[in-house]
Amino acid sequence: MSGRLASVLIDAATLQARVREMGAEIAADYEGRDLVIVCLLKGGIYFTVDLTRAIDRSITLEFVRARSYAGTQSTGRVELVWIEGLDVAGRDVLLVEDIVDTGLTLVEVWKALAAKRPASLALCTLLYKEKLLAHPFPIRYIGFAIEDVFVVGYGLDFDERFRNLPHIAVFQPDATTG
Ligand code: PRP
Repeated sequence: MSGRLASVLIDAATLQARVREMGAEIAADYEGRDLVIVCLLKGGIYFTVDLTRAIDRSITLEFVRARSYAGTQSTGRVELVWIEGLDVAGRDVLLVEDIVDTGLTLVEVWKALAAKRPASLALCTLLYKEKLLAHPFPIRYIGFAIEDVFVVGYGLDFDERFRNLPHIAVFQPDATTG
């Protein structure tokens, strides 16, 4: 590892309170619907676990793995795993992400899910970079809009570390870190 944890951006209590609010909103919006939550791994795991427990109705939980980062940089290539076997035709799909940063992951996963002909497709992300406010994708649920800093914790990593922090922290890479 080269870099350091610089500061806490969103503390654990604030995160949990917002996640509970989002769960209640989703439960109300999807009342009476056949909701499939698709968790985008690995980053989405902690958010998805807490969010789904805050959705007070029956849901189905599925997982897709996407990977595009090396260090703090997007490689520009998104690898998707476990998407072939996913059958969501005719069902209401809510994709759950930890963060939308460049938006590249979202574009690729969205295309792959839309091709499976769900009844509806929507995105719920915990974090959203404000630099993307003009992004063409409609994002139905956003936990927090944040500035353009590299963040770790609550599922987000730097080279696979810090996912288990209970809060969101700013990670400051060394000048030489890619
Ligand atoms: C991270 C994060 C998002 C994506 C966002 O995943 O979890 O899925 O990058 O970045 P983007 O908007 O620039 O595409 P990563 O590829 O690091 O895999 P991980 O979830 O296993 O950490």
